[in-house]
Amino acid sequence: MAGIIPNLFLSNAAWAAAVGSADPDFFKQSAQGQSPRILWLGCSDSRVPESVITASRPGDIFTHRNIANQVHPDDDNVISVITFAVAALGVEHILVVGHTACGGAMACLDAARGGELPPGPLGRWLTPLANLTRTLDLEGLPYPEALTKVVEASVVAQVKSLVETEPVQTAWKKRDLWVHGLVYELETGHLRDLGITRGPRA
Ligand SMILES: *[C@@H]1O[C@H](CO)[C@@H](O)[C@H](O)[C@H]1NC(C)=O
Ligand SMILES: [Zn+2]
Repeated sequence: MAGIIPNLFLSNAAWAAAVGSADPDFFKQSAQGQSPRILWLGCSDSRVPESVITASRPGDIFTHRNIANQVHPDDDNVISVITFAVAALGVEHILVVGHTACGGAMACLDAARGGELPPGPLGRWLTPLANLTRTLDLEGLPYPEALTKVVEASVVAQVKSLVETEPVQTAWKKRDLWVHGLVYELETGHLRDLGITRGPRA
């Protein structure tokens, strides 16, 4: 009866053996460099692991995940990831991916309905989303629908914020780069395109 962490090592060893036997050069090539074509900006939520839900392989998706998939223009962390992905790796697509039943969005919806944001860094992190939530007309909507509206409005806002960043603006002067807004449905496992894709000329 192994513990959680010993099990993790066992699963990792089994995975590495399976990948290595299906494609003997995989890890050797992987160690030589990456050329992902997608940057994924998603939520930290354990239920939305980008590579698993898209059946991707290591090397396919450059990733940044944080609570409630926020793109704060003054966050050096997310801006560094965007800069490296766009300017150095030359990704062609950036996906901002929200998801249903997002705990970060829930905290903001609760705050908009008279509750309080959590204290400290988490509350500070969620303040822009809580402010956005207060501007939405959610009157009379059942909780899950109101929550999905918050999630969608947030993705729209993050896409707007993202396209204003220096790396995206600079890339658009020279080449194609597409920014997409998506929502992952925990209930079905499907990604939904919000149809708000932005490119250099749109
Ligand atoms: C959020 O809204 C409050 C109250 O209107 C405002 O004081 C604050 O600057 C806003 N903060 C952010 C990060 O948007
Ligand atoms: Zn979430």
